[in-house]
Amino acid sequence: MSDLTNVLTSEHPILPQLAQRRSPRAYTSQPVAAEALQQLFTAAGSAASCFGEQPWRFIVGSKATSPEAFGKILATLGEFNQVWVKDAPVLAISIAKATFSHDNNPNAWARHDVGQAVATLAIQAVELGLQIHQMAGFSPEAARTAFSIPAGYDAVAVFTIGYPSAAATVPESLRERELAPRSRKPLAEFMFEGGWPQVQDERYDQAPV
Ligand SMILES: Cc1cc2nc3c(=O)[nH]c(=O)nc-3n(C[C@H](O)[C@H](O)[C@H](O)COP(=O)(O)O)c2cc1C
Repeated sequence: MSDLTNVLTSEHPILPQLAQRRSPRAYTSQPVAAEALQQLFTAAGSAASCFGEQPWRFIVGSKATSPEAFGKILATLGEFNQVWVKDAPVLAISIAKATFSHDNNPNAWARHDVGQAVATLAIQAVELGLQIHQMAGFSPEAARTAFSIPAGYDAVAVFTIGYPSAAATVPESLRERELAPRSRKPLAEFMFEGGWPQVQDERYDQAPV
């Protein structure tokens, strides 16, 4: 069933799955079935990547089937995130392979591609009634140590996967944030048709400085 909480409204219509994607902090305890997880990561793997490198790797920890890994990922998170993340049924770490396989040169687009893979997974999640919440608030060093991630591979972010529940179940301190209306910058602030806004351009005032 679709999550219709805090759907993003926009002037121009977008796919419903994009408008319904959000980053919840409250989840039901319903486990995510193996088949659904496989669908999610198949979606991630469908993303485009520089040279077709597919530099993404994911460590997945499910409370139901790999509780030890779940606990280890949870322990890499900052305190602020741990408060609510502990109730999610699944955690994952996204990891980037830092070099190209065909010539061993640094892959400057590895993190870009990992982000694309996670964004794609997030949309597939909405289709399955799931949501994910990505986090930078974790320790990549702790992740490397906990899972013996080899040199040449870098942990990028951690994310939850789960079925969203009512905001009422999040701690009081986070409830307001959970319910705050979602908004986005107007198009004119980031879509520069024809070129970067210049001083003489009427869009200049709206441009970030
Ligand atoms: C790379 C990345 C890092 C983030 N880090 C955190 C985090 O550490 N803790 C947190 O609560 N939210 C984190 N977020 C979630 C963002 O705050 C959230 O995506 C943003 O406010 C937009 O909300 P929405 O995803 O519901 O549209 C992160 C999101 C991304 C993409």
